[in-house]
Amino acid sequence: MLIANNISKSFAGVQALSSVHLSLQPGMVHAIIGENGAGKSTLMKILSGVIHNYEGQIVLNEKPVQFNSTRDAEAAGIAMIHQELNLVPQLSIAENIFLGREITDSFGMLADKTMHERSVELLARVGLGVDPATKVETLKVGQQQLVEIAKALHTKASIIIMDEPTSALSDTEIATLFTCIHELTAAGATIVYISHKLQELYTIANTYVVLRDGVTVARGDMKDIAEADLIAQMSGRNTKNEKINTTKKFDTVLLEVDDLYLKHATLPNKNLLSSISFKVYQGEILGIYGLMGAGRTELMECLFGLHPKRSSGSIVVAGKKLNITSPTAAIAAGMALVPEDRKTEGLLLDNTVRSNMSLTVLDTLEKLGLYIDTKSEKELSKKFISELSIKTASDTTLAKNLSGGNQQKIVLAKWLATHPTLLLLDEPTRGIDVNAKAEIYALIKSLAVKGLSVVLVSSEIPEIMAVSDRVLVMANGKLTANMPISEANESLLLMKAL
Ligand SMILES: Nc1ncnc2c1ncn2[C@@H]1O[C@H](COP(=O)(O)OP(=O)(O)OP(=O)(O)O)[C@@H](O)[C@H]1O
Ligand SMILES: [Mg+2]
Repeated sequence: MLIANNISKSFAGVQALSSVHLSLQPGMVHAIIGENGAGKSTLMKILSGVIHNYEGQIVLNEKPVQFNSTRDAEAAGIAMIHQELNLVPQLSIAENIFLGREITDSFGMLADKTMHERSVELLARVGLGVDPATKVETLKVGQQQLVEIAKALHTKASIIIMDEPTSALSDTEIATLFTCIHELTAAGATIVYISHKLQELYTIANTYVVLRDGVTVARGDMKDIAEADLIAQMSGRNTKNEKINTTKKFDTVLLEVDDLYLKHATLPNKNLLSSISFKVYQGEILGIYGLMGAGRTELMECLFGLHPKRSSGSIVVAGKKLNITSPTAAIAAGMALVPEDRKTEGLLLDNTVRSNMSLTVLDTLEKLGLYIDTKSEKELSKKFISELSIKTASDTTLAKNLSGGNQQKIVLAKWLATHPTLLLLDEPTRGIDVNAKAEIYALIKSLAVKGLSVVLVSSEIPEIMAVSDRVLVMANGKLTANMPISEANESLLLMKAL
C-alpha cells in the first residue's frame, strides 16, 4: 500500500532518521518501536505531511507522492493521531473533529445538527460518553486522546497512524480502541502503531520495525520475536530489569491527610473526593492506583493547593497543620507536583531545556536578585541531562524540539531541582521507553532512600508494584484499599479499583 524508501531527515545538527525503509500492507497493524528520541514520531510526521523537507521517496499505491501539508496527506487517505495532543482547547469536541472540514448545507451554512449527530456516532465508537458540545479544555488527557482518535476515524483514511494512542487511556478504553482497530483492518485499512507498552504491541500488531538512533535495526513479524530480544534491539544492549527488594522501616510521618473532601465545580451535591484519610512516612513511596476518573489527579491537585475553595479537611506536613491555598504555599511546605498533562501544565515549549529545568529554582539561582547565575544554571541542567539520560542536542535546544519522552523527563527534572521533601508524581512515565522507565524507577528509589517521600499516581499496575512500599486504591473519589505492597497483587488492585 505504501513504501517509504531511504528516508533521511536531520534537524540542525541532529540526524533524526538515516535511510529508513518502511512498507505498509492493507489489513495489517505495523508497530514502530524504539527508545525515546529514536525517530518514530519524525518518520510518522513525514508520512502524514507534517514535515515536508526530507530526503527519500514515498510511494503510495505504486505512485510516488510528495505531501506538502497534512491536507495533502489526508486527501491521499493518510491520517495521524498525534502523540502531543493537537486539539484546540477553547473549541468544543464537535468543532475540533470537524475543524477545517466543516460540513455545510445546501446554502453554504454550517450544518451544526449533522455535525453534532456525526460526532455522537464517532464518540460512541471510541467509547467516550460525553456531549460533543463540551469544550475540550474541560476534558482530562485520556478523554482528549479519545477525541483525537474519533477525529482520525472521521477522515475515513485508509492509513491511520497512531502515535502512542493509549498512553493516557484506561484498560477498558484500550479494549474499545482495539475493537475499533480490528474493524478498521478488517475493512482493509492499515494501522501504524507506536507504543512503549510492549504487551500492547503483542496483542494488536502483526509486524514490527525497530528504530535505534534513526536507523532501522530490526524488522519482522511480532509473533517471531521475544520481548527480551525486542528490548535488546531497541537499546543495542542487554539490560536486565533487576528488582531492588528492600525491607524498609518507616517511623516518621511526613504527610497526614484527614477527612479530605472536594466538591464538584458545578454540581453542588456531588463530591469528587470524599473522606480521604491516609499517611505518608518519610522515605516512603506510596503508590496510588485507580482507573481514569477515580479522583487520583484531583487528590494530587488538592494536596498541591489547586482547589482551595472547593476542598475541606486537614493536611498536616511534618507535624504542621497547613492551610494550603495555593501552589506557592505547597512548594513552601516542601511539595512538588509533576502533573499529568505536561503540554499545558509542565513545560514552556518555546523555552530552552536549560531554562525549563531552572524555572522552579530561579530564586536560588539569582545573584543579589539581579541576574541569574548562569554557571549554576548550566551545572544544574548538565546534571539532570546525564542523570535522566535526556536525549537533546544541547541544553539550549528548545523544549518543543525534543521527542515526547524526553520532554517528560524535563518536567521531572524541573521538579527534582526544587529538592522537595514530598514529591507528587501523576503518571510520571507516560510516553517513556522501557529502559528509561527502569532508570527513573531506580532514581525515585534512590531519592526515597535519602529521605524523600513520594506519592506516585499510576494506572499501570506493574509500575505501582515495581516501586511502591505501600499502595492505596481509589474508586469513585473514595479510598477502597490501603495496604503494604507485600500484600498487594494485580487482581486484588484491579478488583478494588472497579
Ligand atoms: N523540530 C525538531 N527540531 C530539532 N530536533 C528535533 C525536532 N523534532 C525531533 N527532533 C529530534 O529528532 C530526534 C527524534 O525525535 P522523535 O520525536 O522522532 O523521537 P521518538 O522516537 O518519537 O521518541 P519518543 O518515544 O520520546 O516520542 C530526537 O533527537 C529529537 O530531539
Ligand atoms: Mg514520539
